[in-house]
Amino acid sequence: MGSELEKWVLMVTARTPTNIAVIKYWGKRDETLILPINDSISVTLDPSHLCTTTTVSVSPTFDHDRMWLNGKEISLQGGRFQSCLREIRARAQDVEDEKKGIKIKKEDWQKLHLHIASYNNFPTAAGLASSAAGLACLVFSLAKLMNLKEDNSQLSAIARQGSGSACRSLYGGFVKWDMGKEDNGSDSLAVQLADEKHWDELVIIIAVVSARQKETSSTSGMRDTVVTSALIEHRAKEVVPKRIVQMEDAIQKRDFPSFARLACTDSNQFHAVCLDTYPPIFYMNDTSHRIISCVEKWNRAEETPQVAYTFDAGPNAVMIARDRKTAALLLQRLLYNFPPQSDTDLDSYIIGDKSILQDAG
Ligand code: DP6
Repeated sequence: MGSELEKWVLMVTARTPTNIAVIKYWGKRDETLILPINDSISVTLDPSHLCTTTTVSVSPTFDHDRMWLNGKEISLQGGRFQSCLREIRARAQDVEDEKKGIKIKKEDWQKLHLHIASYNNFPTAAGLASSAAGLACLVFSLAKLMNLKEDNSQLSAIARQGSGSACRSLYGGFVKWDMGKEDNGSDSLAVQLADEKHWDELVIIIAVVSARQKETSSTSGMRDTVVTSALIEHRAKEVVPKRIVQMEDAIQKRDFPSFARLACTDSNQFHAVCLDTYPPIFYMNDTSHRIISCVEKWNRAEETPQVAYTFDAGPNAVMIARDRKTAALLLQRLLYNFPPQSDTDLDSYIIGDKSILQDAG
């Protein structure tokens, strides 16, 4: 480590976009390692609209690990944070910054403490996958700071232990989280199916129906589903494996009708298993249902579907338009039928392309 006068601070900043699943992850087979009961596929969003920016710093003057989220200090005591920190420290390498005259040996990382400041540019815990962007960014920035040699897929296995969906935010474009077979989770990783340029006509519009924090977290919701739903096993074993193959094919062929049908039916089935959970979980509200009707009516009136929709663990609608022209028409319809800040209970709209992970380091 540096000299006796150890006053230095070394820091890294990274920015990671969130991802939205088009074939959903819902249910774990291992709660600690966060191993899912089915594969899932997502699309990573444009970082300019929905992303987390995290600065991680290390200094010999820090006397314990600390973290701030949107300016407010939060506890790092949770098992998930600790798992990620432990896994990253175990893989840390020597770091040298010649300009600052700093030398950190890999064994020093066990003693040095970290300060982590994270900022979401969108509502936290409102069902817009904030934990996905947050944990992926934390792992990515710490991996840069500690000079890890692991590639993004190996880092995804660490991010997964922070929040399942986070593993898919380590890549841009279309990403699959392979559930894996091993009990130790070594093969439960994210892989990129296609990069962000592959199908770049797609435009994503998010209707923020409510920016309020959701009542049932994904973690506790999916735990209750696994224990009480009679439908979840059928979904995980019979339905999703077939949909994963079909979705991969639709993405490779840029087949929008198949993509839209699979994304919409999978979102609907995910909310059906939530309803089949006891006590039932209601993530969507009346506005969400009216948005579905509006899109379904439009798709049926055309020769082929124009827009896909999907809803995560909250009422906010994520819509994927087949091209820019359709996106403009969709926005027009939405603004007419669901004007923001009106009695429709809709807060705002976010419009973005798919995009790639950016290292602001
Ligand atoms: C509905 O990844 O937030 O968004 O692993 O317990 O942290 P934990 O859950 P989380 O669940 C996301 C659920 C979902 C579907 C998805 O992203 O695939």
